[in-house]
Amino acid sequence: MAVSASAYDVIIIGAGAAGLMCAATAGYRGRRVLVVDHANKPGKKILMSGGGRCNFTNLNSTPANFLSNNPHYCISALKRYTPQDFLELVDRHGVEYEEKAPGQLFCRDSARDILNVLLTECEWAGAEIRLKTAVQAVREADRGYQVTTSDGALTCESLVIATGGLSIPTMGATGLGYELAKQFGLTVLPTRAGLVPFTLQPELKQQLAPLSGISCPVDAHCHNQHFREPLLVTHRGLSGPAMLQVSSYWQPGETIHINLLPGQRVHDDLLTLRNEKPQATVAQYLGLHLPKRFAQAFNDLNGWHGPLQACRNQDIEHIARTLDNWSVKPAGTEGYRTAEVTLGGVDTRQLSSRTMACLNRPDLYFIGEVVDVTGHLGGHNFQWAWASGVAAGNEA
Ligand code: FDA
Repeated sequence: MAVSASAYDVIIIGAGAAGLMCAATAGYRGRRVLVVDHANKPGKKILMSGGGRCNFTNLNSTPANFLSNNPHYCISALKRYTPQDFLELVDRHGVEYEEKAPGQLFCRDSARDILNVLLTECEWAGAEIRLKTAVQAVREADRGYQVTTSDGALTCESLVIATGGLSIPTMGATGLGYELAKQFGLTVLPTRAGLVPFTLQPELKQQLAPLSGISCPVDAHCHNQHFREPLLVTHRGLSGPAMLQVSSYWQPGETIHINLLPGQRVHDDLLTLRNEKPQATVAQYLGLHLPKRFAQAFNDLNGWHGPLQACRNQDIEHIARTLDNWSVKPAGTEGYRTAEVTLGGVDTRQLSSRTMACLNRPDLYFIGEVVDVTGHLGGHNFQWAWASGVAAGNEA
């Protein structure tokens, strides 16, 4: 019997990081693979990632860098496809990269280099990519699935959902993956924006507004998760790596805690300074450790005026406590509009951690950001996309 032109072994919905990786892997196994995407270009988030230079992996990635309601789920795939494995692929394609922060690998030139690696691999593996193709319906067929698209009906034995999360809707993000999960009886855990800047209550926002653009290294924490990275004041609120990381652990209404002078013994320092230079001010002390403008504004915000000799011991204790633990109650976050990732998603308790397929439907796979696995900032999210894409591509 002739095989219909629209019959594939594997259809992957989503030509992003996870979908393309999966397509190449399945294609090399000799599977007839089609990737469909409604966008006009593949891998748009790869292109905008890492400030256009794509932080494509993190050499120090471990399961502890991921949030999930089922924390053990990601371990198997991450172990079987490591940052070193992706690095070997990148090396084979001659992509130049650099380690900008410990473990964080970025393209030296452009994120396009990573997208080109994936597209070349797909081409070599014989995987077809069809863009500007909207998925209208998915239903079970005799052997596998029928996918109705704006380009006609397609069938496949294995269906892989790689539609990503909800962040940056202007880049093509949709909830299709969640809808399909529900259609096939899976639980979708509540989603929310992660790795996202905080917005502030009007009063604090106004007080900090003059500091917009200033960054300083802090230790920020929420729910006992500490991040020692830079904080950035923006005209909308608080951002920078420290705030983005903490945002993934923060729930509305909660307070975040910021140590503005990590590594300093503020209380002891202030007592010593009061003894040695009684005329010195808190603002001068802050200026030794923080950007001058930030130091002065934070000082004014707290009304710390006059020389240290006028401060009683309890005043110094209070100042030290404030600097060690600046407690901020954000008004909210900037939401999916600017978030790097979506927390929550398809519940992994109904998926196989070896294959990424549904436990009760071994021909239906969910990979990448659509599932409830979310990495810290620093290349971990792409590592999950590669690892889960390879795990599914080896089976689908
Ligand atoms: P991804 O979002 O990449 O792809 C999903 C694909 O599905 C898209 O092509 C989309 O068009 C398609 N799709 C969606 N709905 C569809 C529908 N209804 N029909 C057809 N197709 C549909 N991570 C990291 O590790 N290092 C970094 O440097 C960055 N930087 C970064 C910057 C910014 C601004 C953002 C927004 C995100 C990052 N990330 C990151 C996160 C990273 O981009 C993200 O985790 C991965 O792209 C997720 O890969 P997926 O393949 O799962 O989804």
